[in-house]
Amino acid sequence: MATAASQGILGEDMKSEREQIVGMLKKAYFMELETVMSYIANSVNPDGIRAREIAESLEEDIQEELGHAQQFANRIKELYGVVPGSLDFKAEQSYLQPPEHQTDIVHVIRGVIEAETGAIEHYNRVIQFTDGLDFVTQDMVIAILRDEEGHRRLFEGYLREYETEGLA
Ligand SMILES: [Fe+2]
Ligand SMILES: [Fe+2]
Repeated sequence: MATAASQGILGEDMKSEREQIVGMLKKAYFMELETVMSYIANSVNPDGIRAREIAESLEEDIQEELGHAQQFANRIKELYGVVPGSLDFKAEQSYLQPPEHQTDIVHVIRGVIEAETGAIEHYNRVIQFTDGLDFVTQDMVIAILRDEEGHRRLFEGYLREYETEGLA
């Protein structure tokens, strides 16, 4: 029979660490779902020709963020946690609310950068915490972190373009 220590994060002796990781994954899960909500709204609301590319770019991200939420949910279950229900959800993305004017695309770009930065910070924390403890979660979150870094870089490029033209 295998000893507890040989079972890594699934071992009986790792219950407390496992629960801490599940807590971080639940936060990540809700962050992704809120991002899906915000990106749907901000891919539909903007008006104007200039907003088109931003809206289309956000549309593509929605599917990726949804996939991230599903990955977090599955990992919560694998770690013997329970995926939380919607009543546990608390919204936090004040910066991604619809702007006063729907042509204000710079507001959307800045909001996306802030959302991605929040994800990048949280996922770096998860990667640090799981180091040497839960390589499977760490590996999954590293891959997701790369997506978020790519999203942020793309929107930083959009912002730079607007800044260069004196529009931001
Ligand atoms: Fe994501
Ligand atoms: Fe993202």
